[in-house]
Amino acid sequence: MVSICCGKRSQSWIKSISETDMNSIQVENLQKKYGKLEAVKSVSFDVAEGEIFGFLGPNGAGKTTTINVLCTLLNPSGGSASVNGYDVVKQRNEVRRSIGLVFQESTLDEYLTAEQNLLFHSYAYGVSKDIREQRMKDLLDLVDLWDRRKGKTRTYSGGMKRRLEIVRGLIHHPRVLFLDEPTLGLDPQTRRYIWDYVEDIRVKENLTIFLTTHYMDEAEHCDRIAVIDDGNIVAIDTPDKLKDSVGGDLVMVRTNDTESATRELIENWHLESETQDDIVKFSVPKGEEFLPEFVKQFKGELLSINVRRPTLDDVFLSLTGKDIRDEEVDESAQLKQSLKYRHR
Ligand SMILES: Nc1ncnc2c1ncn2[C@@H]1O[C@H](COP(=O)(O)OP(=O)(O)OP(=O)(O)O)[C@@H](O)[C@H]1O
Ligand SMILES: [Mg+2]
Repeated sequence: MVSICCGKRSQSWIKSISETDMNSIQVENLQKKYGKLEAVKSVSFDVAEGEIFGFLGPNGAGKTTTINVLCTLLNPSGGSASVNGYDVVKQRNEVRRSIGLVFQESTLDEYLTAEQNLLFHSYAYGVSKDIREQRMKDLLDLVDLWDRRKGKTRTYSGGMKRRLEIVRGLIHHPRVLFLDEPTLGLDPQTRRYIWDYVEDIRVKENLTIFLTTHYMDEAEHCDRIAVIDDGNIVAIDTPDKLKDSVGGDLVMVRTNDTESATRELIENWHLESETQDDIVKFSVPKGEEFLPEFVKQFKGELLSINVRRPTLDDVFLSLTGKDIRDEEVDESAQLKQSLKYRHR
């Protein structure tokens, strides 16, 4: 079992420098190098109290490294960061006591029961005996695992293990919960269930949540997202504003003469486009208003048209020129959103 605890609490409740009117996380020009490799290159951001803030980026972008620095598991190579008002280098113990952490890889002891895993964690964090039992009951109830508390965790499904790890991270009443890829490898339905639990817990426990993910649908749950690529934050905003930044609805026209279509788009509509195989792609502010007129006026042979709202994948593509790997993109949901017109 991995624990980042630092001994018993010396006081009943940890107080930070200033408990009011502050960001839960403040990061300035944070850097982390592994030898010559710059895993995190001078990133800056704040996370407000009560916010769900997500790091969205592909494999190797520097997400886990950033979490590990914020949770005091790694020393930064430069810059500064504070969590709950505590400096992550100079006040490591205070940071550790005031946060919960769910690692990217499972760290449950599979030979122990759920109850024993939680007990072990609460001993490590010095959770007092008089509140321990009730706390375990409340948290296990929150994630519907109370009835399964006597079962060895090796008999748990992937989703049950993740729920247990999340409540384990909460047993000592942290004020910020770090979730590193909270639903990695789980099926889409289980991921949705986990998110129902997380959102419920956020409200009931009055938590700030910092998470990392490379799933677009998961990032949609965040109040704000930092898009991270190759150690750099390339944008920070709400999911809606990030999608708006792509420039409206995306139109994909399939035609057997892409060159004429491209020319026609520039001459008649003043629209720049990109071509991939026999598909010409461009964006317009309002697809539903643009489409009927476009279909009427188009001179070439129109094989199909697809219009959809931008996804966070499009945001990533427009910011970095690359596709984020997302094997879980729900194609059927995209299809439902899209309008399809076939030329007769
Ligand atoms: N202990 C280490 N020693 C050397 N290089 C490391 C170490 N840990 C991570 N790295 C490198 O730092 C970069 C960032 O890794 P990190 O684990 O932070 O990425 P990530 O965004 O969490 O990726 P993933 O989505 O795969 O979890 C990668 O190039 C990785 O190989
Ligand atoms: Mg990672």
